[in-house]
Amino acid sequence: SGYWVVVPAAGVGKRMGADRPKQYLPLLGRPLLSLTLSNILTWPGLSGIVVALSADDDHFSHLAEAKHPQVHRVTGGAERADSVLAALDFLGTREPQDTPVLVHDAARPCVALEDISALLDEAVSPVALLAQPASDTVKQSAIEQGCPVVEKTLDRNHIWLAQTPQRAPLGLLHSCLRRALEQHAAITDEASALELFGHAPQLVPGQRDNIKVTHPSDIVLAETILRLRYA
Ligand code: CTP
Ligand code: MG
Repeated sequence: SGYWVVVPAAGVGKRMGADRPKQYLPLLGRPLLSLTLSNILTWPGLSGIVVALSADDDHFSHLAEAKHPQVHRVTGGAERADSVLAALDFLGTREPQDTPVLVHDAARPCVALEDISALLDEAVSPVALLAQPASDTVKQSAIEQGCPVVEKTLDRNHIWLAQTPQRAPLGLLHSCLRRALEQHAAITDEASALELFGHAPQLVPGQRDNIKVTHPSDIVLAETILRLRYA
């Protein structure tokens, strides 16, 4: 009756430009992935975690959470969606098709328990994601004479920025993601794979502080968010 969490953690962190993949950079003195996993391990009703790692990962085994009985590892792939698919292949042979799966980026250590409760207990649909209503005005661009120009301004009241976790039943998510990858569709999150096959994931308002650590300045921001929360 529990749910599983899939954690894609096989990226290289190109935009971070550090000496190692960003999921292993220290945050408040602990590797980022360690913070994300220990956060997930506090979520009520958790059955287990599947972490997708790069084939040449030599950091993970040093994390305290690597030996936790609820933490399982698989080898990820070239794109985030390939990494998630590898984790779903692992779960697909072990768990019933209707098992709820939450996919959560390794790079989002700051997600709050209230957001998890909203996604697990308050969402009406079993297919749902955390998202943040846009606060900036969003422009869609076109290219004219080699330069980006505004093609149109999108109605901000209908714009949401996708976060994670994103949830769906195991069987549905597995088949949509597999079929999307077979079609070489541009899939940057789980919701986009589900949308491709006619599903309309529910948008669950999440907090602004569930940032994805992407650029160097995000490290300081994430440390500040965590320090304020646990102070
Ligand atoms: N990820 C993954 N497998 C990949 C690429 C990304 O598991 N082939 C994971 C990352 O480790 C991260 C999450 O997906 O936890 C979100 O991706 P992103 O923030 O883009 O991380 P990176 O791809 O590592 O960063 P960049 O795009 O800057 O290289
Ligand atoms: Mg990436």
